[in-house]
Amino acid sequence: MTQPLLQVRQLGKRFGGFVVLDGIDFHVQPGERVGLIGPNGSGKSTLVNCLSGVLTNELGTIDFDGQSLLGLPPHQRAYRGLARSFQIPRPFVRMSVLQNIRVPLLFAAEHRLGQRHSGAELEALALQALDQVGLRHKRDDMAGSLTQIDLRKLELARAIAAQPKLLIADESMAGLATSETDEILALLFGLNKMGIAVIMIEHIMRAVSAFSERLVVLAAGKKIADGPTDAVLRDPLVERIYLGD
Ligand SMILES: Nc1ncnc2c1ncn2[C@@H]1O[C@H](COP(=O)(O)OP(=O)(O)O)[C@@H](O)[C@H]1O
Ligand SMILES: [Mg+2]
Repeated sequence: MTQPLLQVRQLGKRFGGFVVLDGIDFHVQPGERVGLIGPNGSGKSTLVNCLSGVLTNELGTIDFDGQSLLGLPPHQRAYRGLARSFQIPRPFVRMSVLQNIRVPLLFAAEHRLGQRHSGAELEALALQALDQVGLRHKRDDMAGSLTQIDLRKLELARAIAAQPKLLIADESMAGLATSETDEILALLFGLNKMGIAVIMIEHIMRAVSAFSERLVVLAAGKKIADGPTDAVLRDPLVERIYLGD
């Protein structure tokens, strides 16, 4: 078996006295598509925040691409190839779509690729990210004027601009119409085909089960299932705790 791209062991996080994540073990292989599901409040976003360095886990280890991420701030984790989109998109609303991509590019790609880029090279990389999400034609629009689905696409473009090894998409489809969720689904499949491993966090079961080779299920801060998508969906415990509602 190849070495996992991401290996999380016994991860623990509490807010005050409240244990939000309790001994989470899980891994992602290079290029894998993993769905992370669980009821609201089960700890999915907190787990993503611990992985991306927005929050600090008190317990456990996080190894990525053969190195520990512990103690590294978010931008250092991005340099190493771990990208995430936020559940609530956070664009710079007064900047154009293209400028929104240049910001993460400047901070991550340049560093990780180990070289300085000219303005023209940065623009080419930014346009490439916009192409990958189908937003090139809106490059000069203000981010604040975008529709909901285009905001989601921009959020994904910002995450992938630095050419990550792993993309964590936190509820990239929330609030979208069915045809729009299909667009985001196709987009994530496309990114995966380029070799990017993807963790999809999603409540829309049709989408997450179509996408994921493997499902990891959280409930009240504990991992309750982890395995091939079909097997996990038939797991009686998962049915009772998550799919039953
Ligand atoms: N910053 C915070 N401070 C205190 N409690 C929080 C904070 N963020 C999340 N929580 C709590 O942690 C639990 C897990 O939340 P979250 O990770 O957002 O779950 P999910 O993404 O699965 O819906 C919830 O009970 C939530 O209320
Ligand atoms: Mg969440």
